[in-house]
Amino acid sequence: MPAATNADASFLLHRFFREYRTSVFIVGSTVVAAWLFNKLWINHRFYPSKQSMHNKTVLITGGTIGIGYETAKDLLQRGARVIIACRNLNKGRNATSRLLSETDANEDSIRLMECDLCSLESVRNFARLYNEQEERLDILICNARLSWSSPIITKDGFNAVIQANYLGHFLLTNLLLNKMKKCRPSRILHVSSELHAGIESIDWSDVFTQFRNPHWHGAYPTSKLFQILSALKLKQDLYAERIDVFALTPGWMPTSIDGRSVKAIIWLAFILSYPFVRYLKFLFTKTPEIGAHTIVYCAVEPTLEQSNHFYFQNCTVAQPSSLAIDQIVAERLWKTSLEAVGL
Ligand SMILES: NC(=O)c1ccc[n+]([C@@H]2O[C@H](COP(=O)([O-])OP(=O)(O)OC[C@H]3O[C@@H](n4cnc5c(N)ncnc54)[C@H](OP(=O)(O)O)[C@@H]3O)[C@@H](O)[C@H]2O)c1
Repeated sequence: MPAATNADASFLLHRFFREYRTSVFIVGSTVVAAWLFNKLWINHRFYPSKQSMHNKTVLITGGTIGIGYETAKDLLQRGARVIIACRNLNKGRNATSRLLSETDANEDSIRLMECDLCSLESVRNFARLYNEQEERLDILICNARLSWSSPIITKDGFNAVIQANYLGHFLLTNLLLNKMKKCRPSRILHVSSELHAGIESIDWSDVFTQFRNPHWHGAYPTSKLFQILSALKLKQDLYAERIDVFALTPGWMPTSIDGRSVKAIIWLAFILSYPFVRYLKFLFTKTPEIGAHTIVYCAVEPTLEQSNHFYFQNCTVAQPSSLAIDQIVAERLWKTSLEAVGL
């Protein structure tokens, strides 16, 4: 009986290949081509330098998962002391034990500190503790993000995505500037996104609430635009102080953006588009390790010291949108932000 079943199966398989030979060939070669494209093009730009980071202290927001985690891991391997600012200490503890097991770092090289970027009070408490207890801050990496979220307003009265990605980092940076000045040359990195380029104008009457935001990605692209604009203003202000400021985009990665976006997209549309989205990801996404390379490059590359370059992608200089480098808009946003966070 089993012999007959095997013979049937082999016959059916044989027949299937005979009848659908061309289709099988086309699908197979498309998948192989897509795989090669992803490995040899999308994931081929990386930062090979072994530049040491001994005696440097790095503060990274959102280092518990995704690109932030991979960045923390890379910098630990280079000998840096890494402080992870996170809103969920349980997640943070899991991340630090993984980091300790995956690197040669010892417990003194990693510190976890609570900081919820959606709360100005939490950011102020964090900065006070940091300034009191930590001696150095050589590199600040503003990496944490909320991606798609329904238009939630925080207790401070701002759109949650805008506050987590932009205003929280804005306040944090300003409160830690004196510490960075003591460690110069130091660096501030803003991890932004290509999606900023989709924003063509700013509605100043709704700037941090985003009630009238029409974008299908919600407030996320605007928050990423604001990060670049504030980095532009800071770069000019801090150049003479030998604090370098860079903005960058790590590329497209299959990180937690997926889980949250599912909630935001109507489920039927999601199911219908799922195979297509999976295919696009297979083709175009980087691994988080490779995505972290542009951050690490901007954090450690010695030739970037006092560099006029500002925006990076794929470990090389890139061009942000024209709105993102508009000086007048950057000045106006800076002033409006100072008022919003009470500085
Ligand atoms: N993934 C991509 O395809 C992509 C593309 C372009 C740009 N980027 C940029 O790359 C950076 C990292 O992206 P990712 O994909 O690695 O992100 P992710 O996987 O979504 O991780 C985000 C991190 O931010 C933290 N976070 C969220 N809200 C916070 C808050 N209110 N206070 C403190 N921490 C908070 C999260 O903490 P919890 O664990 O507690 O949630 C998590 O550690 C982001 O700036 C993103 O905009 C990513």
